[in-house]
Amino acid sequence: MSVEATAPGKMILFGEHSVVYRGPAIVLAIDRRASVIASKRDDKRVYVDAEDLGFSGYFEENIYYPITGKAWRGRNLSALNVASKKVMEHLNVDGGVNLKVRSMIPIAVGLGSSAAVCVATTAAVGELYEGKLTKEEIAELSFEGEKIIHGTPSGVDNNVSTYGGIMKYERNQPFNRFKIENQLPFVIGNTRRKRSTKNLVDEVRLLHERNSDLVDNIIDTIGLISTQGLESLFKNDHYMIGELMNINHGLLSALGVSTPELDQLVHSARREGAYGAKLTGAGGGGCMIAISSEENLSSIERGIRRYRGQSIRVNNTNEGVITRRINNGDN
Ligand code: PMV
Repeated sequence: MSVEATAPGKMILFGEHSVVYRGPAIVLAIDRRASVIASKRDDKRVYVDAEDLGFSGYFEENIYYPITGKAWRGRNLSALNVASKKVMEHLNVDGGVNLKVRSMIPIAVGLGSSAAVCVATTAAVGELYEGKLTKEEIAELSFEGEKIIHGTPSGVDNNVSTYGGIMKYERNQPFNRFKIENQLPFVIGNTRRKRSTKNLVDEVRLLHERNSDLVDNIIDTIGLISTQGLESLFKNDHYMIGELMNINHGLLSALGVSTPELDQLVHSARREGAYGAKLTGAGGGGCMIAISSEENLSSIERGIRRYRGQSIRVNNTNEGVITRRINNGDN
């Protein structure tokens, strides 16, 4: 018997960087998912098959032994090792697992791929050992894995991936979760340039130190955009959501986190009829997002590809992590 769990990626609609200071930020689960199929092992190894991503290997006593791909990949995979071990510890199981990882979420571009894989791993291992984990437990245990990769992440990625829907988060405040029934048509444009969130947060901090009054005003205005943006989501006002995204992008550029590639994709999307477009996540590469009427989605996508970006059509989703048992031994 094996168990498959799938969990969604995310995009930040409003409020990145400002949320590092006071926020809030508005984050949406997207209908691009990571899948993990877990099965039991006779030994205590955690075996990870991520062949789609070009590597596989196993952990024994927390040491990584590559089978295909480079040894340093173990650093990324250690989150899955930790998440699996935490779940087994939580359930008083002294065992091992095989994890087959597949993901439709591009890596290291701000779409929450590592959190989605961690959440799916946690849920799959929990169900495999009949742990009946609650969503709260899944979010908590997967966070232990996330910390291995990201140090001190905010926790928003694994939360939104666990529960789905919309998350409003603010420093030192509990997460606020919402669901909306309507689907919003978005296009993601991936510049394919990987970046480090930590470096970009550091750069904004230095800018803040040099120009604290100016940057404080930008941070507050972005916070206001998030608040108004959430209202526009509830009203299903796509035009206003787009307008607020445009203003938000301008302010992120003012903070210095946009790039010529991101600006090119943002302006191309607007030219092709988007209601609005902005970078999403830390910036410095990674992705931009555009909201549009259904009829303009294709030309926005063509525009993104013309500038050598990867275009991905997504909707928001209320579906957080889900698990299913596979009884035919097919894993
Ligand atoms: O690109 P991501 O998903 O790592 O998002 C970073 C968002 C920031 O506000 C820049 C940092 C943070 O921790 O909130």
